Amino acid sequence: MTDSKILYGGDYNPEQWPRAVWEDDYAAFDKASIDTVTLNVFAWATLQPDEDTYDFARLDEIVARAVEGGRGIVLATSTGALPPWLAHRHPGVERTDFQGRRHVFGQRHNACPSSPVYRRLSAELAGRIAERYAGTPGLIAWHVGNEYGGFDGGCWCDLCAAGFRDWLRARYGTVERLNEAWNATFWSHTFSDWAQIVPPNMLSEHWRGPDHTAFQGITLDYRRFMSDAMLANYRDEKARIREHDATTPVTTNFMGMFRPIDYHRWADDLDFASWDNYPPGPREHARMALAHDVMRGIKDGAPFWVMEQTPTITASRDVNPVKRPGVLRLWSWQAVAHGADAVLYFQMRQSKGASEKYHGAVLDHAGRTDTRSFREVAALGGELAGLGDAVVGARTPARVALLFDWDSWWVAEMTDGFNRHARYVDTVLAYYRALWQAGAQVDVVPTTADLTRYDVVLAPMLHVLKGDVAARLAAVTERGGSVLASFWSGRADEDANAYLMDAPGPLAPLFGIRVEETDSAEPGVANPVTLTDGADEVVSAAQLVFEVLVPEGADVVGTYGTEFYAGTPAVTRHRPGGADDGGEAWYVATGLDDAGVEWVVRRVLDRHGLVGPYADVPDVELAVRAKDGVRFAFVLSHATGPVEVTAHASGVDLLTGRTVRQGETLRLDPTDVVLLREDPPGEPA
Ligand code: GLA
Ligand code: ZN
Repeated sequence: MTDSKILYGGDYNPEQWPRAVWEDDYAAFDKASIDTVTLNVFAWATLQPDEDTYDFARLDEIVARAVEGGRGIVLATSTGALPPWLAHRHPGVERTDFQGRRHVFGQRHNACPSSPVYRRLSAELAGRIAERYAGTPGLIAWHVGNEYGGFDGGCWCDLCAAGFRDWLRARYGTVERLNEAWNATFWSHTFSDWAQIVPPNMLSEHWRGPDHTAFQGITLDYRRFMSDAMLANYRDEKARIREHDATTPVTTNFMGMFRPIDYHRWADDLDFASWDNYPPGPREHARMALAHDVMRGIKDGAPFWVMEQTPTITASRDVNPVKRPGVLRLWSWQAVAHGADAVLYFQMRQSKGASEKYHGAVLDHAGRTDTRSFREVAALGGELAGLGDAVVGARTPARVALLFDWDSWWVAEMTDGFNRHARYVDTVLAYYRALWQAGAQVDVVPTTADLTRYDVVLAPMLHVLKGDVAARLAAVTERGGSVLASFWSGRADEDANAYLMDAPGPLAPLFGIRVEETDSAEPGVANPVTLTDGADEVVSAAQLVFEVLVPEGADVVGTYGTEFYAGTPAVTRHRPGGADDGGEAWYVATGLDDAGVEWVVRRVLDRHGLVGPYADVPDVELAVRAKDGVRFAFVLSHATGPVEVTAHASGVDLLTGRTVRQGETLRLDPTDVVLLREDPPGEPA
């Protein structure tokens, strides 16, 4: 990766328009300080017009022009969409969907990951591209495939069924062990031969859709298998690239919190993480921050890339509003603030036709550079260029960890019982939002992460409790740290079977409670939970899930206001090491509203001095990166009106060059960004 600046540019498909236009493109790139182009994402059909012929003439020209223009090149392998001849010649290479329908040629993200033909030809193409373009001046990364799983998350064909059986054999060894893991005595599912196993979809274990399965264990294993099957596709290509290029980093573009694929299983095979940021709405700043942090957590906090975002509008939604003035800049700096070392777009110039012809682009159909949108793109490019390498490679100095677990996500949402309205990401986001508003720096990590680095560890809805997680959470409190878990944690083991003990299973001793009943209510039906800490009291309208707790050592911090369990604990705090030494373990047994979650989270953070300086200014974000002992504080205003804050440190705003003194009033207009290079503590500005 280059380390001279934050990379800026994105997907560029000059194969879609005449050569003469390329010159206009590059002139515009210069105006916008665009230094990086991602080439060749979807060109398989022209690179390989038939099974025995490869034709790189056009890609040669495209690459040569990028080299001539001195751009950084991200070279894709083009394997995210099949060419028509391949589907025609090899029926079965197209995926079979969750309904069990075998697809014919069309769309993209359309290959069966288990197809030997796809695996052979995709790897061959990647290898030939690498052979030809390895060593190209400016080549900064290889981009394998595209948005794996991006159709309905996988394939359910006979080839995948066979692959699933192999995967299960490797995992379980014997059918007996498999029957045990799947609790197969239920509904007469005892298998006597691997051959009897079929993929879980609408023809087998599912009804109503992916969230309704008769056997969570089967669906869970299929999702793990599908994550691995697609990873195998990526590995096939990466291995062929590595035959020709030993060092250039290899990645693929993820989709943030994308449920079908467990991105943590891919961590070791990515040289860096990257993702495509298309938030579902205009006010999703905390969700975007969470997604950035999930992506940064894949590679243990190393910088990641935003591989795609739109400069203006998306095209895939029913309603596609433009980004308001200043929003592109704000969201781009937010990405950098959370650890992105590249801010790239889909796309450089609008397509002439097909499904994304109205998707926003740096250059519109007319190629104008005098539009509001282009001016904002160019201004941001200028700022990023001006910043140089200041924050490149810098890391987030987090003292707080939040556990993010695909197994828990999958199992919590595919299990009958309790309440289908309580969703994993909603719950995680509720806690993350409180941390975010408080200005705490957070690492969002897999359950296998080293927790010894953190003062605070949050585990919202840690439904599936695996391995030594309970012991490692207990260790956090043993050295004085704080942990927090929410309802539905510690319910299921790694096979998705219930623990044969009180909930929250092996976590119960740490939290000093047991769950006796789990009540549920329709959305909108609230139970007022009174949270009190001596002087301070708040009433939170709790919804959806209401666990009835029996304290076994924990102190009661919040109580239910209604129902037969009125007056019983809804939020508890346990001090497993005794009253004044050791740490604290908080348990939140219900779906507190935002105010309630914030009340709890603030107390947890406060104990460790981790509430940030702008915690009480709504929608003002503080995100910090640090390197070589220097802290870079990004202060971002997502507020809808002007706000005033008191500067928390002295330093220089690297975006304006202005000197800021600690304690001075900073006025932030909506979308304003301050990037403060903090003076070392103790030194006057
Ligand atoms: C995804 C894809 C791109 C493009 C954009 C449009 O991220 O990777 O090819 O389709 O979406 O939103
Ligand atoms: Zn398949």
